[in-house]
This record gives sequence, structure tokens and C-alpha cells, in this order.
Amino acid sequence: MTPDRAPTAQELLAFYLEAGVDCALMDEPVNRISDERVAAAPDPVQSPPARPAPMPVARSEPAPAPDVAIQSARTAPSLEVLRAMLEQFDGCALKSTATRLVFADGNPQARIMFVGEAPGREEDIEGLPFVGRSGQLLNRMIAAIGLDRTRVYIANVIPWRPPGNRTPTPQETQICLPFIQRQIELVNPDVLVTLGNPSTQTLLSTREGIMKTRGRWLDYDTGTRKIRAMATFHPAYLLRSPSYKRLAWQDLRAIAKALQG
Ligand code: URA
Repeated sequence: MTPDRAPTAQELLAFYLEAGVDCALMDEPVNRISDERVAAAPDPVQSPPARPAPMPVARSEPAPAPDVAIQSARTAPSLEVLRAMLEQFDGCALKSTATRLVFADGNPQARIMFVGEAPGREEDIEGLPFVGRSGQLLNRMIAAIGLDRTRVYIANVIPWRPPGNRTPTPQETQICLPFIQRQIELVNPDVLVTLGNPSTQTLLSTREGIMKTRGRWLDYDTGTRKIRAMATFHPAYLLRSPSYKRLAWQDLRAIAKALQG
């Protein structure tokens, strides 16, 4: 079946957006199915695929090897140093497709820290976590415990937006884990709130789903101190399933009570 008419540029863009293609990886388009490219492509059985050329990155000093960078992240003396280390870090491929690093927002002296999964489109543009629609709901959740962004600290397990908001791979999560662990250690909050399943499972080392983990006090062990931690629903999930807001509200009440104590 052939379509009656060719789609307009706007319709094509809408189609791409819906499919999660919302950022350009290169300045020039590449026709990956043109005859010449297919003819010129090496036979994958005969010859191994060529490795893509590394992206040129402007910097004054060479970045340390990823494993060295991860080791030094574990002892970063301050949040500023940790942030600078991440800016230099080349061990996570997500960095090359993201617009910028999304490190954190809020008050590093806060008694409460929220950790989400990974930045989305708006966060990638602004360089701040939770500024899109789910961020607006997170603001309301924070307001429900009598606080605002100046009195909380917000970060993500992964500090770069996965292309098209895809789920980060377990490898990407493991590579970024030492950085968020050190971030939590340096902020040293009284209460840690993990938002949604991925952040909860990664940080609180559980395989249980959010329905079971939410609303229970758990320990987050930094190695030198145990921090009270609670999982609750991710605001994006609450936007899709508003009937769970009632349970999220219960979690927030428990968190508010813990902060009073
Ligand atoms: N979802 C997240 O997990 N983090 C953000 O920063 C935004 C949306």
C-alpha cells in the first residue's frame, strides 16, 4: 500500500519525536541505506567492523583513564571537584549524545536528598535535574513536606540524558554509580529519598519492585555512616498513574516526620 501523499516535514518530525528521535548526533545527515554505503560496507563475516572514530573533545588536559577517574571519584574532596571530574570523565558513552552534564540542583547543605534515574529532554537542555513535567510534580511533593528547592538537594543516578529517554543499560548505571555514591556521601543528608524503581534498586541494593520497597525505612550505608532512606514513586509514574498519589502522600508524611525528629 502506498500513501496518498508524501508526509510533510512537520509530520516527519512529529513521527521521529514520537519514536524518541529528538536530538541530532551529527551536523550533516547520513543516508545509512544508500547504495554506495551498502556496497562500500565491509563484509561483517570477512572483516570485523571498524571502530567509530572517537568524537573530538576540546579540553586543555587529557582525561584520565575511566578506571582511574572512577577511583578518584570515590575520594573526591568536594562536590565541586566531583562535578569537575564528571565533566572530564569519558567512560560513559551517554556523555557523547547528551547536550550537557546534569549534576544536581538545590542546597548541598540540605538535610534531605532526592535521587531520580536520569535526565530527560528538558533537563538535558537546562542542565538541571527535574525541570520538566515530572520536575513540577516533584516541586509539589517537596512543597507538601513544607520545603522548596532551596532546602533540598536533587540529583540522578545517571548524570547524562540517555538518547530518546531510553532506559540506561546496567553497564551505564554501574559506571555512574561511584559518582552518585560519592555525591550522596558528600551531601551527607539525614534522609535520602530514591524516586522510582531504577534509583531504588541501584542505590538501596534491592531487587524488589517499588510497590514493595516504597514507604519503608531502609539504611543507605556510605561505609562510614548509615543514612535513613525511603523509596517512593517517581513523579513521572505518578503523572501516568495518579491513583498512586495517595500512597506517595503517605510516604511524604513519613519523611516530613523523620525530618522533624
Ligand atoms: N526523571 C528523572 O529521573 N530525572 C530527571 O532529572 C528528570 C526526569
